[in-house]
Amino acid sequence: MANVMMVASEATPYVKTGGLADVLGSLPAALVARGEKVSVVIPKFRDVWQEDAQRVWDNLPISIGPLQLSAEIFHAVRNGVDYYFVGLPSLYDRAGIYSTAGHDFSDNHIRFGALSAAAIGIARNIVRPQIIHCHDWQAALVPVYLRFKYNHDPRLFGVKTVFTIHNLGYQGRFSNPAQILYDLGLGPETFTPAGLEFYGEVNLLKGGLITSDWLTTVSRTYAREIQTAEYGFGLDGLLRQRAANLTGIINGVDYADWSPEHDPYLVQPYSPEKLSGKQACRLDLLKEFGLPPEAAGRPILGIVSRFAGQKGFDLIAEIADSLLMENVTLIALGTGEPYYEEMFARLAAARPGKVAVKLAYNNALAHKIEAGADMFLMPSKYEPCGLNQIYSLKYGTPPIVRATGGLDDTIEEDTGFKFLEYSGAALLDCIHQALRAYQDQPAWQERMRRGMRKDFSWNVSASEYSALYRQLLER
Ligand code: ADP
Ligand code: GLC
Repeated sequence: MANVMMVASEATPYVKTGGLADVLGSLPAALVARGEKVSVVIPKFRDVWQEDAQRVWDNLPISIGPLQLSAEIFHAVRNGVDYYFVGLPSLYDRAGIYSTAGHDFSDNHIRFGALSAAAIGIARNIVRPQIIHCHDWQAALVPVYLRFKYNHDPRLFGVKTVFTIHNLGYQGRFSNPAQILYDLGLGPETFTPAGLEFYGEVNLLKGGLITSDWLTTVSRTYAREIQTAEYGFGLDGLLRQRAANLTGIINGVDYADWSPEHDPYLVQPYSPEKLSGKQACRLDLLKEFGLPPEAAGRPILGIVSRFAGQKGFDLIAEIADSLLMENVTLIALGTGEPYYEEMFARLAAARPGKVAVKLAYNNALAHKIEAGADMFLMPSKYEPCGLNQIYSLKYGTPPIVRATGGLDDTIEEDTGFKFLEYSGAALLDCIHQALRAYQDQPAWQERMRRGMRKDFSWNVSASEYSALYRQLLER
């Protein structure tokens, strides 16, 4: 049994903007079920849901650069996992998690530097872990501080670090390095090309990738892709150097939350044995999106996503006219970059009755789309793992995906539809293929059932993390 402490910025059900939260809400419990001891440290943002949390530490001193802060630490147990919430109101008690009104907070380096410093404080004083497992750039300063500030600390002696890349596109890059290093309490020796320096800026993710004992990412294909210039976001050289210590472990999902058999958001349950409830879910979805019941006569294409360049929606813009000549209904839920929000809003305005869009973050609607749509669209430019396509399989909603990263690893020709070339033409072709397949309903239902019976629960992947922890501790 290993004593593992994870550090991240999100975890369901406490706070979520994307798949990172799903992973921190479900992987730890799967590890506990295997006999590991797991705790998770996240910030106590304003909107963190935590009715069951207790205050366990009043004044945990946190020093970060010139700042001397004192954190309140809250604690809750969920599915056998110890969740610790770092209370630093001056940094976290704000509207927004990473940004407000579309602008990143200007002190994000301090906000997440303080998370890393607090996590180290929790490790030294409360958890005493053997392994610290950090997720994404927000936690990247943990191994950096361990290397540069705590290398002689007896309470942290022998602690191993694992770093999981959920998305290489977000690196925590900050210009004005002199100020940033000062704010973070890092000396000039850290700001070298072999350290946190990246094209003249401070790159926190890079620091984490260099100083962690082991690196993982969230699918095998993405582990390969990030070592290429096309997907490496400038860090592919470094990742190639560290290839011997980099593994791809596909994310699992939590079927307690995502199964049409027992999903409280659905008007009727359904299963591979009894698909009929899906029709009620389709009608309910159309109603939620203000579409007429006639729209149910056409295949419904669903989208649930952060609206970011990564997700490939410029391809949808490219093919929108041809797509909407087809006999389809398009339903999208998402928020994000104004460019994509406007693009979807324009489509809906131009084709009322055929396209409906909600620019919102809404978990209930996300579930209703997984269930009520007939096909799920994920034409991502890159996708480290992707969870929605895995949920779609479970909901009998064959996904149409670009063959990249985790999409390529989880979707097969007999459960969904894949295209490779990043172009509108290739996407349109793939959608046409899906629409033709939909005509043959008996075969389509077999396809639905095959997807619904796939098992992407955490069992296998959690055992791979366990094996990795063991290997690190035996070194
Ligand atoms: P990413 O982490 O890149 O956003 P994933 O597919 O891994 O992509 O995970 C996205 C998660 O966020 C899923 O659980 C999805 O249901 C959820 N999600 C994304 N956008 C929304 C939204 N607008 N409303 C509700 N849930 C959303
Ligand atoms: C990131 C990726 C997504 C992945 C998620 C959880 O947000 O964009 O592909 O599923 O992290 O690992």
